[in-house]
Amino acid sequence: MSKKILITGGAGFIGSHVVRLFVNRYPDYAIVNLDALTYAGNLENLSDIENATNYKFEKADILDAAALADIFKKHEITDIIHLAAESHVDRSILSPLDFVYTNIIGTVNLLNVAKEAWKGDYQNHRFHHVSTDEVFGTLGDSGFFTETTPYSPNSPYSASKAGSDHFVRAYGETYGLGYVITNCSNNYGPNHFPEKLIPLFINNIINNKPLPVYGKGDNTRDWLYVIDHARAIDVVFHQGKNHDSYNVGGFNEWKNIDLVKLLCKQMDVKLGREAGNSEQLISYVKDRPGHDLRYAIDASKINKELGWKPSVTFEEGLSATIDWYLENEAWLKNVTSGAYQQYYEKQYLDR
Ligand code: NAD
Ligand code: DAU
Repeated sequence: MSKKILITGGAGFIGSHVVRLFVNRYPDYAIVNLDALTYAGNLENLSDIENATNYKFEKADILDAAALADIFKKHEITDIIHLAAESHVDRSILSPLDFVYTNIIGTVNLLNVAKEAWKGDYQNHRFHHVSTDEVFGTLGDSGFFTETTPYSPNSPYSASKAGSDHFVRAYGETYGLGYVITNCSNNYGPNHFPEKLIPLFINNIINNKPLPVYGKGDNTRDWLYVIDHARAIDVVFHQGKNHDSYNVGGFNEWKNIDLVKLLCKQMDVKLGREAGNSEQLISYVKDRPGHDLRYAIDASKINKELGWKPSVTFEEGLSATIDWYLENEAWLKNVTSGAYQQYYEKQYLDR
């Protein structure tokens, strides 16, 4: 059967890469991108495929259950890939309830619509929930998150994502809804909103602004190129075991300060600046409250069961990412005007 897939959050960073991959790779599928176009959603991210015959956009909020039901009916949706979320940890510290609404209640609204629409035929439909490794909490200097690591979220963001994961699992167990969950590490790449470490620092280096490293810069993250995450979602959506979860990671751990220094080095070369120039912008600032020390994913399950592994090295991916930002100055200017400036001041002025 040809699928009619609702991709939520398709105008965001990761969602836009997932939409593009599915539209291009599966011409027989109908792809419906549902997005509320919050500060993080941007249809410019999809300008290259907006006229594709197998693609449609619906502006809607996942908090609006009636709108979701209408869209489901109108497009006869057979499957969901759910990415819509409030995604930034620092914003969740400023405003936790927004994360409860969108990430938990919004997800339950989608589950309810799917439960009603697919009643009696759950085995032929799939709800793919896109989640994060942050639900597992923090690691010390050693060890890895596996699919059986207990949940232990530390930020309002990760608590809300953990809540949504639990609801997806509960709808599978209680009602029999078909689902898969992917828990992925830190993504980077084109179209990343410049509130997150890598694009924020690229933008600040371009503009000769300070690079606010939280704490001592000792925190460690596992970085994955966004297109490799989209490939993982493709593989798990099509071949993942029903009612199961898969960890997705880059086998690529970096201490923040080492990553920032690598970024500075690459930026100096690309901007034709003297070596060491951008590093002088590094400024150690007050730490993020509840800052998880280390995330590291054991991605051997998706590798062994489904054959997925990252296709791009970090140096290649980072270089391509910087090039994208340098070539898309208008995109960057557009998303860093207005409300972004207010957010930036609130977050960094007194830090
Ligand atoms: P993003 O913030 O760039 O994009 C989120 C998208 O969701 C935006 O297009 C926004 O308009 C939309 N959205 C927000 N609230 C909505 C609502 N109420 N109704 C409809 N649409 C809404 O996020 P991202 O970084 O692309 O992350 C996408 C998903 O992947 C999220 O679920 C996130 O938790 C998860 N994830 C992200 C990362 C990462 O490193 N960025 C890693 C692992 C998992
Ligand atoms: O691990 C997956 C998660 O990765 C996703 O679920 C989240 O949606 C995504 O935002 C990301 O969360 P992080 O909090 O790890 O990403 P962020 O880019 O905000 O921060 C990366 C690291 O850099 C973290 O240790 C905090 C630090 N940092 C971040 C910013 C924005 C700084 O030192 N300075 C900064 O200005």
